[in-house]
Amino acid sequence: MKKIAVLTSGGDAPGMNAAVRAVVRKGIHDGFEVSAIYNGYQGLIEGKIVDMELGSVGDIIHRGGTILRSARCPEFRTVEGREKAVAQLKRHGIEGLVVIGGDGSFRGAYELTKLGIPCVGVPATIDNDIKGTDFTIGFDTALNTVIDAIDKIRDTATSHERTFIIEVMGRDAGDLALWAGLAGGAETILIPEADSDIKDIVERLESGTGRGKKHSIIVVAEGVMSATELAKVIKEEAGMEIRVSVLGHVQRGGSPSGRDRVIASQFGARAVEVLKENRGGVAIGMQNHKVIDYDLQSVFEGSEHLDLKMFDLSKQLSI
Ligand code: ADP
Ligand code: F6P
Repeated sequence: MKKIAVLTSGGDAPGMNAAVRAVVRKGIHDGFEVSAIYNGYQGLIEGKIVDMELGSVGDIIHRGGTILRSARCPEFRTVEGREKAVAQLKRHGIEGLVVIGGDGSFRGAYELTKLGIPCVGVPATIDNDIKGTDFTIGFDTALNTVIDAIDKIRDTATSHERTFIIEVMGRDAGDLALWAGLAGGAETILIPEADSDIKDIVERLESGTGRGKKHSIIVVAEGVMSATELAKVIKEEAGMEIRVSVLGHVQRGGSPSGRDRVIASQFGARAVEVLKENRGGVAIGMQNHKVIDYDLQSVFEGSEHLDLKMFDLSKQLSI
């Protein structure tokens, strides 16, 4: 393999730039020619491909978003779309591809590998929902963004003695809500991986008030229901006045945390090493603080395992 390429795809995540930088610099260091593909799989189909140099990725390690831009590309889900992509890669002499993105992007990488282009998936999504890796790039930064928001909302909740519901992203996964809720001292956390009973939530809120609690913070993962819906349900059940805060896309932005920059650098470099060994259909990840590579197909088998002990702990600590 002489020439490889890198793209970012799906929802952007803080630290994607650090991963792009690592792929380009490690690739050149290891003797590859490295190209960048703009706008994810859409740009690949359209041939938005440029050669990279060491300096092309200067001054980006601290920047959020992705300098390569991202896209959701319905055409790539079709065989015809993927054949166009393969033709573009062949035209540019690209023999291996690093895909930085989430679960959907990994599925695309798997399909492309089946068409004879060795692909390596680098997990980057604030949702932390990729099976086989303890952490994805962007999760730590988003977590700290959410914690910061909870802290700020707590100030006003205390001042006005109010109950707040904060809606957190995560698609179908509860990791971001659970970690942020625990770290932010939320009274109640709702995640898709655990059943929640409205009566129980109301009882907890009322017993807190009974013991003199002046305010409450409820964190709800978007995969459970919207904060507005939840507020309506609680109001119907308990007649409580509630304020709602939907954090939205602010969770996806910002300068990556130190931890995200470090794992992005490690993951990007490992992806290049895997291509150097002529291997494709591989995912990069981290388990027990060690960078690992594993079978990309295994990402799609079964569901990601969330630590429900942490959920129980959050309940014990928030009484
Ligand atoms: P993320 O990678 O953040 O999970 P998406 O789910 O939107 O984001 O996936 C990103 C892109 O990956 C999609 O727009 C599509 O182009 C491609 N993709 C997703 N699923 C598949 C699939 N099953 N087959 C081929 N390509 C896919
Ligand atoms: O996957 C990242 C994510 O931010 C999810 O948490 C969220 O559900 C989704 O992307 C939002 O997608 P969009 O940016 O297309 O609105």
